[in-house]
Amino acid sequence: MKKEFLLAPGPSQVPPETLLEMAKPVFHHRTKRFQNIFAEVQEGLKYVFQTKNPVLVFASSGTGAMEGAVSSVLSPGDKAISVVGGKFGERWSKLCKAFGVQSIDINVEWGKTVDPAVLKKELENNKGVKAVYVTLVETSTGTLADIKKIGEVVKNTPAILVVDAISGLGADMFMTDEWNVDIAISGSQKALMLPPGLAFASVSEKAMKLVNESKNTSFYFSFKKAKASLDKNDTAYTPAVTLIIGLKKSLDMIKEETIEKVWKRHEDNAAAMRQAVKAIGLKLYSQNPANAVTAVWIPETVDGSAFVKKIRDEYGVTMAGGQEDLKGRIFRVAQMGYANQFDTVVASSAIEMVLAELGYGFERGAATRAAVAELIKRGVK
Ligand SMILES: Cc1ncc(COP(=O)(O)O)c(C=O)c1O
Repeated sequence: MKKEFLLAPGPSQVPPETLLEMAKPVFHHRTKRFQNIFAEVQEGLKYVFQTKNPVLVFASSGTGAMEGAVSSVLSPGDKAISVVGGKFGERWSKLCKAFGVQSIDINVEWGKTVDPAVLKKELENNKGVKAVYVTLVETSTGTLADIKKIGEVVKNTPAILVVDAISGLGADMFMTDEWNVDIAISGSQKALMLPPGLAFASVSEKAMKLVNESKNTSFYFSFKKAKASLDKNDTAYTPAVTLIIGLKKSLDMIKEETIEKVWKRHEDNAAAMRQAVKAIGLKLYSQNPANAVTAVWIPETVDGSAFVKKIRDEYGVTMAGGQEDLKGRIFRVAQMGYANQFDTVVASSAIEMVLAELGYGFERGAATRAAVAELIKRGVK
């Protein structure tokens, strides 16, 4: 028998309660019935985003809303700053280029996070920057950015702050309004406990002004159209009805647990995961590790590609490998969404089993013991 455990940084596990909701028959979306659910979903999203701003919903993967945050907010020829410290920061820069926006890239060494003072200087040196694009959790490196401090830098400038919170939202603490975030982007397949297929964007008044001035090059991802429809509690195009019904269930579960406890659960499991890998001599990749995902160096003596393949195909535990230069050199294990202490124990013991099989020498049981000890220390019963 092979039992599957999905511990990749997206898509992640979906609760059975949500899957059951999505198994119900589809119904028409231009109805009061759908509108009632959509209104509740809107309130639930605002709670998870910690915002009073509207949260636009698109039927696409997360990148769709990222695209809209460039194409329907700025105009060709505008200037923006992109913080590039990994694969997803890079995406902001590429999107800017795709839509004729001049991106001033702040390149950050992978695994490190941007220094807000560097961003401040860059904003002072480049007058006329209309948007700053950053990533809350850089999934390719498992690194958390200090959005609160970045928000303090950007708020007193004419620029808006746009945060890709696709893998961080609902995992690492994130306060859209309090941290002065103008546009926060997320996707369904990470800590929101849904399959892939929905993208979200909260939009502040400061950002909406830019949207209204933009020489819009966007059609499907037009924030202007999406906002006009949302004002009527509607969507511009056919919504992903089934996913939205599932989303309502997942949001209800988050509300019931409370967002503070959800963040704490991720914090506890991430801390336990870090202790587990350290206990067997492995090193973390990130210098500022996120709670959503843990990136770990694979020992040089171990075949990294074989590790990721074996743990998934033979042990049934799906983690992700590294991207680009990190291919075969790191693995990434997620704690995001529908994951608790038992998933952390599964991850620790599977890591041990595969490393042992691949010839890495260490004290068997030490990782799992360290994970459990950390959970106990943190009061996780
Ligand atoms: C931080 C981050 N940004 C953007 C994306 C892209 O999202 P999607 O694949 O849903 O388009 C991902 C997906 O892994 C991500 O982790």
